[in-house]
Amino acid sequence: MHWIRLFLVTIICLVAVEASTQSTIVFIPLDERFTTRSIVLNLARLIQNDFDILTPPMEIISRWKQPADTDRLFQWLHEQISTTCITSSSCALLISTEQLIYGGLINSRLSNTSFDELNLRLRTLVGFKQEFGVKLKIYLSSVIMRIPAYNEDFEEPDYWATYGRLIYLWSFYTDRYLVLHNPADEEQAKILEKQIPQDILREFVWRRARNYNLTYTLLNDYTQAYFEHIWLTLDDNAEYGLNKAEERKLIQLINNPSLNISSKVNIYPGADEVSLAILSQIVVSNKQTAKPTFKVRYRNITTQNYIPNYEGAPLNESVLKQITAVGGHYIEDANESIPDILVLVNNWSTETQQEATGLQTCEDYSPLDAKTNQSVIVYADVRYSNGGDRCFSQWITNRTVLGAYAYAGWNTNGNTLGTCLSNGVLLKYYGNVSLKENRRFTMYRFIEDVQYQANLRQVLSSYLINVSLDPSDKLNSDLAFYETFTDKGFVPYADRITKEFQVTNVFYPWNRTFEIGFHLLDN
Ligand SMILES: *[C@@H]1O[C@H](CO)[C@@H](O)[C@H](O)[C@H]1NC(C)=O
Ligand SMILES: *[C@@H]1O[C@H](CO)[C@@H](O)[C@H](O)[C@H]1NC(C)=O
Ligand SMILES: *[C@@H]1O[C@H](CO)[C@@H](O)[C@H](O)[C@H]1NC(C)=O
Ligand SMILES: *[C@@H]1O[C@H](CO)[C@@H](O)[C@H](O)[C@H]1NC(C)=O
Ligand SMILES: *[C@@H]1O[C@H](CO)[C@@H](O)[C@H](O)[C@H]1NC(C)=O
Ligand SMILES: *[C@@H]1O[C@H](CO)[C@@H](O)[C@H](O)[C@H]1NC(C)=O
Ligand SMILES: *[C@@H]1O[C@H](CO)[C@@H](O)[C@H](O)[C@H]1NC(C)=O
Ligand SMILES: *[C@@H]1O[C@H](CO)[C@@H](O)[C@H](O)[C@H]1NC(C)=O
Ligand SMILES: *[C@@H]1O[C@H](CO)[C@@H](O)[C@H](O)[C@H]1NC(C)=O
Ligand SMILES: *[C@@H]1O[C@H](CO)[C@@H](O)[C@H](O)[C@H]1NC(C)=O
Ligand SMILES: *[C@@H]1O[C@H](CO)[C@@H](O)[C@H](O)[C@H]1NC(C)=O
Ligand SMILES: *[C@@H]1O[C@H](CO)[C@@H](O)[C@H](O)[C@H]1NC(C)=O
Repeated sequence: MHWIRLFLVTIICLVAVEASTQSTIVFIPLDERFTTRSIVLNLARLIQNDFDILTPPMEIISRWKQPADTDRLFQWLHEQISTTCITSSSCALLISTEQLIYGGLINSRLSNTSFDELNLRLRTLVGFKQEFGVKLKIYLSSVIMRIPAYNEDFEEPDYWATYGRLIYLWSFYTDRYLVLHNPADEEQAKILEKQIPQDILREFVWRRARNYNLTYTLLNDYTQAYFEHIWLTLDDNAEYGLNKAEERKLIQLINNPSLNISSKVNIYPGADEVSLAILSQIVVSNKQTAKPTFKVRYRNITTQNYIPNYEGAPLNESVLKQITAVGGHYIEDANESIPDILVLVNNWSTETQQEATGLQTCEDYSPLDAKTNQSVIVYADVRYSNGGDRCFSQWITNRTVLGAYAYAGWNTNGNTLGTCLSNGVLLKYYGNVSLKENRRFTMYRFIEDVQYQANLRQVLSSYLINVSLDPSDKLNSDLAFYETFTDKGFVPYADRITKEFQVTNVFYPWNRTFEIGFHLLDN
């Protein structure tokens, strides 16, 4: 009988070894959109040989203003950890606190859920860590709530449609007075305050305090003991504002030596792209080798420290913070060592960053003509906000082989940087086995960032205006028509670059022109 038992034991061991080579990442996205959820699943195709990604079904996460059922989400999460994740070779949670704790990004800006209730949910997550122990690694993102500068309530409480601009300005002057002590700013803030109904301002300030308190609690009470890393990103912001005041206080807390969390927390401008940075960090941690090294080159050095639209910090500072956020290590250009990743930044030369929707011009891109076959190339196309530089993307495709590099150029500077830097890291580790998937991901970027945002979206807006519709309204009356319109612009564009993939299922995730979704199948 002995040999049979030995035989069986051997088989069982082989199966166990076989099963345990795959790592698991349980991913809970910021919200349900193509730009926040699908983008992560699409980039993760580069690492599919080593990692399985589990993500909740659409039915249990948020849907625009309809919040997620957080009880079900916690139940689902616990099930995934105990049945699959914890038994695989490594188990990481990649979680947006907005989705899991608040019920979605938008709900974090709308809901009246009490601080105590939210804190209870946070403690449920801490309880999972206590239950499953060291093998469970938890990576969390959390957004410092945005303060958009315009009147529009699509993603905000109703009152933002009327008072959004005033609240933004009030917050801006209130904070600038706090920092610079210029009485004229205080005067301005007082005048603005009188124009906003008291109950509205009270609700706004209450919700900010609630969210701030939760982030404070997360850092102060739980980060050191229970979480691997935290990403705090500033959504739409400016040089001054209540969000910048919160950032300053949180930085103080993070740097408090007795907490010992400074090496675990990243804080920088961004939001929709943050899960990609976490994905990249998880891959780096999993490799257990030295952090990938990055060098950075700007097209125009004079303007590297200009402040991008929708952000409150200079471009070159955010580039460094994002390199750290994706698990990388920045090295100075003067250092002679060859970096793993070379970041080529197509920055802007004008006083303020222009919108991709405006008139575009071609530039001399030759400062970004890197002759290297030893570093992964990352093209960070931040010249415009809300879309790519059409001419730059052509310049890239004219001179390089598709998929041999990373490219991004979407909504904000932070969105673009987080996307292409994470892609660069994955390319460093998986470039040799995942070139096809990298070509697919790059095609997603060109089609979405360049052909849709910087081109077709403008044509569509122009059409809507011409037929007396408002491009900022929902496309509710004839979605199928708009989808076909966009699909017709995607197919020939994609085919000109490569015939390897087929564009299908073009859709408008939130029924508005602001963002698009689609699939790229194998041709
Ligand atoms: C939150 O409370 C405010 C003030 O009472 C109310 O106007 C608003 O509708 C509430 N929001 C939700 C999502 O219940
Ligand atoms: C936030 O925390 C402060 C200090 O503990 C407390 O005074 C305040 O009531 C809290 N606000 C909210 C909305 O939770
Ligand atoms: C501080 O945190 C780091 C990493 O989280 C840990 O290695 C180190 O032991 C901690 N130091 C102290 C004094 O607790
Ligand atoms: C880009 O930034 C660099 C500095 O990093 C600056 O010298 C250069 O002028 C900027 N280029 C453009 C086009 O703004
Ligand atoms: C950003 O650029 C400015 C101006 O060129 C420079 O003084 C500053 O040191 C740079 N900051 C970083 C973090 O590189
Ligand atoms: C150059 O970069 C490498 C890699 O990060 C580092 O080990 C080395 O110390 C750096 N050299 C100098 C002079 O800073
Ligand atoms: C760099 O930016 C400066 C400042 O706007 C501008 O004068 C210069 O022409 C730009 N250079 C290039 C190569 O774009
Ligand atoms: C890399 O580039 C160097 C210099 O251009 C060249 O000598 C070398 O053959 C290239 N290596 C590969 C693998 O292409
Ligand atoms: C790219 O190549 C096409 C075809 O040769 C040419 O018409 C176009 O001007 C080039 N664009 C850039 C930016 O180099
Ligand atoms: C791909 O590259 C990685 C890291 O450089 C290496 O460990 C791996 O063996 C390579 N795989 C193949 C199939 O070449
Ligand atoms: C909208 O009308 C303007 C002015 O007549 C015209 O230039 C533009 O091409 C039209 N847009 C579309 C998409 O038809
Ligand atoms: C978009 O429109 C479709 C069809 O009218 C509808 O089913 C869906 O709920 C809408 N989505 C949003 C986010 O409004």
